[in-house]
Amino acid sequence: MSHAMVMTEFGAPDVLEWQEVPAPEPGPGEVVIRVKAAGVGPTDLHIRAGHLAAVFPQRAGDVLGFEAAGVVEAVGIGADAAVGDEVAALLADQGGYGELVRTSVWHPKPPSVSWIDAAALPASAEAAVGTLLQSHAARGETLVVLGAAGSVGSIIVQLARANGVRVVGAARQRDAELVRELGGEFVKHDDNVFDRVARRVDAVIDAAGRGGLTAAVAAVGDPSRVVTLTGGPEVASSGALMSHPGPDRAPGALAVTVPMLAAGTLRLKRRRVVPITEAAQAHRLLESGETHDKLVLTFD
Ligand SMILES: NC(=O)c1ccc[n+]([C@@H]2O[C@H](COP(=O)([O-])OP(=O)(O)OC[C@H]3O[C@@H](n4cnc5c(N)ncnc54)[C@H](OP(=O)(O)O)[C@@H]3O)[C@@H](O)[C@H]2O)c1
Repeated sequence: MSHAMVMTEFGAPDVLEWQEVPAPEPGPGEVVIRVKAAGVGPTDLHIRAGHLAAVFPQRAGDVLGFEAAGVVEAVGIGADAAVGDEVAALLADQGGYGELVRTSVWHPKPPSVSWIDAAALPASAEAAVGTLLQSHAARGETLVVLGAAGSVGSIIVQLARANGVRVVGAARQRDAELVRELGGEFVKHDDNVFDRVARRVDAVIDAAGRGGLTAAVAAVGDPSRVVTLTGGPEVASSGALMSHPGPDRAPGALAVTVPMLAAGTLRLKRRRVVPITEAAQAHRLLESGETHDKLVLTFD
């Protein structure tokens, strides 16, 4: 047996309870990881609250968590890993809030990358690489990133800049300097954001989820080059593309971003660490807006 922070039902953060659970077994091509740290994303909060029951299969008794870092404990048939390998993992079936988790998507963690950073990266990196591919943002083009200071948005800004894309980063005024340090031109993110983008806009990625897709499509003139990570009624009415996570969308995302982290050429959103036993408190901190940091749960 093993232990995990189980979502006992849909509801408020205190539905998360530390419980004994069956230890996972690796299937073909999979490994089981003993988790050192697990990232908390906004999607976890929506799944726990029951808002995404039509999108994700997680139900009462399941374990949240799309990303983790840890040590390989068991190796399935055909999996290219060894017991003891230190890895960062993307968890398509979730489960990162558990001591042991099964995954088919992982990348070696270089010693210079901390457990915290390796756990904070995978889901955001996958979303950033995936949406950049969907947007077809090309060298010399202008990409507007809505939510440019966020966990996903900040990675999009840096990867796009590294590919020679001109980036306008929309964020709150307090994040203006951060967006510039990441390589973007800052624009204040409000309802009229596109009125203040002086140049021609070739593509938009929405990593904020505050709406504005109709204006984004109008600014670009082509709905197929507007990609959103958060959905909502404006997706259908504007024709923008919805981005769905999955291991097939951006299989190389960790191979691209983990070495950048190790080399110091990729900066992550500021991290705040909370013990796994206080996962409910981590959710409360995010829901209340008391913190804007990326929360990472640690297993000591
Ligand atoms: N579909 C997928 O494949 C996928 C994968 C990963 C993530 N996601 C989704 O992508 C979104 C971003 O995730 P994340 O982890 O990057 O979250 P995050 O770190 O919280 O980033 C969101 C950013 O948008 C900003 N923002 C939110 N509301 C705003 C407003 N009204 N005005 C100005 N700025 C605003 C936030 O600023 P403050 O922090 O100051 O509020 C933050 O900088 C989430 O909705 C998440 O569920 C989707």
